[in-house]
Amino acid sequence: MRSKIVAGNWKMNKNLQETIYLVEDIASKLADTSAEVMVAPTFVNLSAAVSALESSKIEVVAQNMHFAESGAYTGEISAGMLKAIGIQSVIIGHSERRAYFGETDELLSKKVKAALENNLRVIFCFGEELADRQSGNHFTVVESQLKNALFSLSTGDWKNIVLAYEPVWAIGTGETASPEQAQEMHAFVRKTVAEGFNQGIADDVTILYGGSVKPGNAVEIFAKPDVDGGLIGGAALKTDDFLAIVNAI
Ligand code: PGA
Repeated sequence: MRSKIVAGNWKMNKNLQETIYLVEDIASKLADTSAEVMVAPTFVNLSAAVSALESSKIEVVAQNMHFAESGAYTGEISAGMLKAIGIQSVIIGHSERRAYFGETDELLSKKVKAALENNLRVIFCFGEELADRQSGNHFTVVESQLKNALFSLSTGDWKNIVLAYEPVWAIGTGETASPEQAQEMHAFVRKTVAEGFNQGIADDVTILYGGSVKPGNAVEIFAKPDVDGGLIGGAALKTDDFLAIVNAI
């Protein structure tokens, strides 16, 4: 079943006190919505956010994880550790992880498998860079990102996969894909999943758009038939902006 989701990716922002303040502020002002609402603070503040949101429908999700269950991986966090503090979902493959931390499709495939084995829902990010779009390679790039990281999954795994199309040129740049560009890529992604698996999975998978979503453009983007919600960066750090985007869905 496709869901409607608005998820805030806080990246490396907000200390402990700021995190508690922001999640409580969002929770207290959140209007009734059928959408799933998620926030992703940094690792060190996940537990506090989980506690602060105990009686709220807002889900706390992690921004990353390691593929190993435990071991000599200094500075890393495992899926089991996330589960143990009440986390149910994890973002994997964000373009900043790919660009600044050298995360490859091969590594991401391992992370996705480890997350699913631990019953975590995966929000899998992918998207082309500006040069790919300018040279007309954006579909090929996206297709290979999906194939390399997700096509060895079983059909049953897909119930725990959410896709997030985030064109790199639109992240944090103020530059947004037009609603038509988002729709075109989301439809292509659904077709790719249908070809790799089946039409039922393609129809059911939730596909979020991310990249400079704001209160001013969210309604138009979310209105597109293959856009099921958004992964929000900058605008997720202000209660009013984030909730305006939630309301746009
Ligand atoms: P942005 O970030 O909304 O600030 O462009 C989106 C993201 O990186 O998920």
